[in-house]
Amino acid sequence: MRERYIHIDLLSFLLQLFVKLASFLTHLECSVCGDRHSPHELQTVCRTCGKSLLARYDLDKCKKALRKETLKGQKSSLWKYFPLLPIQREEHIVTLGEEITPLIALARTVEALQLNQLWMKDEGQLPTGSFKARGLGMAISKAKELAVKDVCIPSAGNAAGASSAYAARASIGCHVFLPQDTPQMNIKECRAYGADIVLVPGNISDAARAMNERKKTNQDWFDVSTLKEPYRLEGKKTMGYELAEQLDWELPDVIFYPTGGGTGLIGMWKAFDEMEELGWIGSKRPRMVSVQSSGCAPVVKAFEQKKKESEFWQDAATIASGLRVPKAFADYLILQVLYDSKGCAVEVEDAEILEAVHELARTEGLLVCPEGAATFVALRKLARSGFVQKTDSVVLFNTASGSKYADLLN
Ligand SMILES: Cc1ncc(COP(=O)(O)O)c(C=O)c1O
Repeated sequence: MRERYIHIDLLSFLLQLFVKLASFLTHLECSVCGDRHSPHELQTVCRTCGKSLLARYDLDKCKKALRKETLKGQKSSLWKYFPLLPIQREEHIVTLGEEITPLIALARTVEALQLNQLWMKDEGQLPTGSFKARGLGMAISKAKELAVKDVCIPSAGNAAGASSAYAARASIGCHVFLPQDTPQMNIKECRAYGADIVLVPGNISDAARAMNERKKTNQDWFDVSTLKEPYRLEGKKTMGYELAEQLDWELPDVIFYPTGGGTGLIGMWKAFDEMEELGWIGSKRPRMVSVQSSGCAPVVKAFEQKKKESEFWQDAATIASGLRVPKAFADYLILQVLYDSKGCAVEVEDAEILEAVHELARTEGLLVCPEGAATFVALRKLARSGFVQKTDSVVLFNTASGSKYADLLN
């Protein structure tokens, strides 16, 4: 009898290698009131309470059909997690070649700080040079599946670049609303991809206001703003799946994440919960650290005051443009992750960020974005304070390629 079980087990394992599984997506669930929404029609926020929606999957069924061991032999792409992603039909995937991003050991820094292990997950190697490719690739794929003709987005820069690229690839119209002082490379890339660009005085909140005004006369535009659209989060959660798989299903002790809208932080946390339910990892969780710039640190302030939501940050200004988000729409989810994980939030100065960009290039051979450099500064601070200990394994996120920020280099 036991032999037969082993036989059937082996057979199902071999089948998994060759048979493509469908998505196990079942519904969307409100992150606050729990209301259910259909994944087969366009959704933005919860119709009952206006908060962010989360994609839910039949994880019980998925557990029986998909084993983590099967993932090993599959192509190096975030689409290998397709059964746990929200696209119903593979032909709707809009892809620019989203390879698994490398976990690069920071040999010099680990020695200097005397840590157990230290890696940087280099998201700058994704299409369009930033991790925004994950979320926008997913959102545009889903938009294509649901026959959207035009998308619109307010952005600090990289999200606009990614949505422009994926929309071009999907033959979907793209309308981007950017702060006037967005890094030139971001504006130029959107132009090259053929997006309709609106530059707005102020920051991303002002850009969102301008977009909502224009939307009144363009009601068919689909808004893919951070966490007002449910599937960007699903793209970003693949960072968590990749990380677990790369570390042989043992999560690190601490993760440093440069936080603007917080999609990646919330997404990874969601991935960890899903993986535990699938039996792929245990209950151990990393301490999640939100890193912000002292010129715009609403999450840090709220965390220090033990609040559940942040306050709008007046006169936000920082060279780390992706962190210039005066109030994240889903700040309540970001803060919840920080509290649940026993993590924290840290602010760093722009001057320290700039210095760290050059130091990382010189010492580790990595040209990172200012947001990525901010995580490096925060690590040093928390190593000094004792929050990060010598026995810890640590992952920093470099969220974009430094070559997109040539203007900041000496
Ligand atoms: C390079 C970079 N890092 C970090 C962020 C913040 O990302 P999130 O919105 O997931 O917090 C952004 C957002 O624009 C960004 O462009």
